[in-house]
Amino acid sequence: MREEISRYLSRSRGISCTPERIIITSGATQGLSLAAHLLNQENKNVLVEDPTHPGLRKVITTAGCRIKTHPTDERGIKTELLNPADPLSFIYTTPSHQYPLGGILPIQRRLSLLSFAEANNCYVVEDDYDSEFRYEGPPVNALYELNPERVIYLGSFSKILTPAIRLGFMILPDPLLKDCKTLKTYSDVHTDALSQYTLAEFIRGGSLEKHIWKMKKYYHKNRNHLIRELTRQFAGEFHILGQAAGLHMVVQFHNTVFSKELVQEIEHHGVRIYPVENYLLEHSDTSHSNQILMGYSHLNFEAITAGVDILREIIP
Ligand SMILES: Cc1ncc(COP(=O)(O)O)c(C=O)c1O
Repeated sequence: MREEISRYLSRSRGISCTPERIIITSGATQGLSLAAHLLNQENKNVLVEDPTHPGLRKVITTAGCRIKTHPTDERGIKTELLNPADPLSFIYTTPSHQYPLGGILPIQRRLSLLSFAEANNCYVVEDDYDSEFRYEGPPVNALYELNPERVIYLGSFSKILTPAIRLGFMILPDPLLKDCKTLKTYSDVHTDALSQYTLAEFIRGGSLEKHIWKMKKYYHKNRNHLIRELTRQFAGEFHILGQAAGLHMVVQFHNTVFSKELVQEIEHHGVRIYPVENYLLEHSDTSHSNQILMGYSHLNFEAITAGVDILREIIP
């Protein structure tokens, strides 16, 4: 499957890498786990965006790494605050669609992040999830493409197809490849071969790209419908953070704090929202208390309209 992924990345993402640099993993989660085990150094920290995915943060600490948080805004990791005195083994980042705030890291910040990594002699682990679902704006180079010797690239088929198949991949700089293959072998020998053959065939025949194209249109329409419905019910009371990409968006309400009680009441009426505060590592930061994640990928227009109507009834 590595040949197919290599060709697919070159066509769809502009990434050039030989199949030899790719390791197939059981999802991006395993890729991150392998990278954390590989790069962990006792006297160095791992820099993690705040807010971030709590499960993936746990993957890093479970590998024995010590985490240091780093502020993030609507455009992604704040590179101007990187401290050259910090001893780091790697920086974990989601530049295609910062999870969960939704920013697409601008090219200037990408370049600053890479020069920092170069000067600090640390690696960057680029979790490129959601890069397939970008609805507006020009494409931005992957960090891996900008500096393949400093970046470990994580890819996943969970959002494109389904998380149930547990298929992902990583691309590594040459010096890390051999040790990473050894780690993978002694962790689970290899990722399920039957799933790999099936997906390789799906990519080879062009079906994966057709599927992504179709789903991108579907998700984009859902996103626009959600914005329309929020505007109908909450005109002037909210704005959207981050860029148009991915399967969820972050909505900031101007006058609503999403307390535990309010979130529970909303859920009790059948609507699930996710407060950004749940993804924070620095819990003293209260600046996100009026922001929620709203997913739209699994819903039809009727469900979106009904959900927003319920929110209007409950939110004061
Ligand atoms: C930020 C982020 N990275 C990666 C993944 C995908 O992980 P996996 O490929 O292990 O399913 C997810 C899924 O929720 C995610 O939110």
